[in-house]
Amino acid sequence: MSAEYYSTGTDIELFHKAFQRRIPVMLTGPTGCGKTRFVEHMGQRLDRPVVTVSCHDDLTSADLVGRFLVTGGDVVWRDGPLTTAVKNGAICYLDEVVEARHDSLAVLHSLTDHRRALYLDRAGEVVSAPETFMLVCSYNPAYRSSLKELKPSFRQRFMTLTMNYLDPDREAAVVVAETGVAQETARRLVTCARTIREADEVFHFEPPSTRVLVTTAHLIAAGADEWEATLACILAPLSSNGAISEGLREIAAAASAGAQTPAAQSF
Ligand SMILES: Nc1ncnc2c1ncn2[C@@H]1O[C@H](COP(=O)(O)OP(=O)(O)OP(=O)(O)O)[C@@H](O)[C@H]1O
Ligand SMILES: [Mg+2]
Repeated sequence: MSAEYYSTGTDIELFHKAFQRRIPVMLTGPTGCGKTRFVEHMGQRLDRPVVTVSCHDDLTSADLVGRFLVTGGDVVWRDGPLTTAVKNGAICYLDEVVEARHDSLAVLHSLTDHRRALYLDRAGEVVSAPETFMLVCSYNPAYRSSLKELKPSFRQRFMTLTMNYLDPDREAAVVVAETGVAQETARRLVTCARTIREADEVFHFEPPSTRVLVTTAHLIAAGADEWEATLACILAPLSSNGAISEGLREIAAAASAGAQTPAAQSF
């Protein structure tokens, strides 16, 4: 399977410049729009390993930098993923960084200013970041259920790349490249998703992502009926409210009118 990244425009170039000038990068954008794929792609392009940390509200600074562990009577220091990334000059990718508590992120401050150093207070060590170390964070600002926000003092340490779903041609190209479905099938799925995204203002949910289009297309490539796959992967996860689901089915059926499935034709 391909692990290609389809660019939205200047994102690759800006990321590259940020890497050259050692500027941390913040990626924002809806779920499944390609943030993780982009970081993996840039890691390959820049020939740097990517160390990913999925942030959550129990994440402590020790989870990031490391801690002393007792093994067989000995007390040994074990580097956390952030320290490992700094030491290896890797790209450290903090996914959903908004989920982490502010005090856990404080350890990043010295890494993201002129000092470019990690202070391991407990180990009594200061690790200077090599030229190739880069910090990349991401979060989805649109989660309407989330009240969490990043501090301005944190956000302003980063260059922010605002990502979004690709234009229809490129999004369909992703679906074809990832799954091998026919171009026309990919186009219908993209049209369906885009129609629902446009209706999003009315429905207030996280709209269907490129990820769900890829999942839908995988089912179709495996022989599933196109409308069944659309229902299961694109529509069902959106809402558990019966009336809303019904409205969405109608919108999707109208958008997928070209899909030659009996169920779709009945709408
Ligand atoms: N620009 C793109 N190029 C290639 N594939 C893409 C692109 N955008 C999305 N995809 C496809 O969608 C899938 C999901 O993308 P990815 O995991 O990068 O999303 P994400 O933005 O990190 O989502 P989340 O916020 O939920 O972590 C990828 O595995 C890939 O199949
Ligand atoms: Mg991701």
